[in-house]
Amino acid sequence: MAIIMDGNGRWARARGLPRVMGHRAGIKSVRAAVEQAREVGIGVLTLYAFSVENWKRPSDEVGTLMRLLNEYLRRELLNLMKNEIRLNVLGDFQGLPEQVQGHLSQVMAKTRDNKKMLLNLALNYGGRSEILNAAKQVAEQVKEGKLKLSNLDELTFSRFLYTNGQPDPDLLIRTSGEQRISNFLLWQISYAELYLTPKLWPDFGKGDLMEALRDYQRRERRFGA
Ligand code: IPE
Ligand code: IPE
Ligand code: MG
Repeated sequence: MAIIMDGNGRWARARGLPRVMGHRAGIKSVRAAVEQAREVGIGVLTLYAFSVENWKRPSDEVGTLMRLLNEYLRRELLNLMKNEIRLNVLGDFQGLPEQVQGHLSQVMAKTRDNKKMLLNLALNYGGRSEILNAAKQVAEQVKEGKLKLSNLDELTFSRFLYTNGQPDPDLLIRTSGEQRISNFLLWQISYAELYLTPKLWPDFGKGDLMEALRDYQRRERRFGA
């Protein structure tokens, strides 16, 4: 399951609060989604937390988002261990602030052997750059003679993506009523079921996640057949 967590800013504006307060409130929904996904046995949960495009926001908002991320990682480690959740990052890791990289590395190392659920945080993530980056690595390997172009199929190509070896999401949720993908998991969502809800991310609770799953269960997936 993958989620585009959107609407924090609008949630805050509707209350006359600064956008930052919306991001803070959004963390509660992150906790709820992680807990509930783990509870019902979702294998992989991928949360879109910061896109490559989000650097275009005012620097104080970007700074706050990075601070909140650090805070989340510090506070959540015990819970991740207790619930046997492994943390992983999708995106351009090196392009994140050094302090954030440090915190992420620590949590990833500590949770490495947890097997109940994989929690992907998409950070400094862009779908097109992910595919471009994979294409460059493939070209390198072909040049070095490690890969034959005639052997390159979809499965082989997908190993060069950030999601290397992971199953594609079956369900993609987007909150806040926007009806777009915003450069998220372009390769991986080719056959994902979409669930769009007008609820703003800070208002999206465990019950809403269950409603999305129930909706998903009613879908008939044909995969073109
Ligand atoms: C989603 O909420 C959080 C991030 C993109 C980090 P937004 O900040 O995009 O909130 P809106 O869309 O402006 O309401
Ligand atoms: C998508 O939301 C990115 C994340 C949720 C991290 P945005 O709010 O950045 O996307 P747009 O601007 O509505 O496309
Ligand atoms: Mg938004």
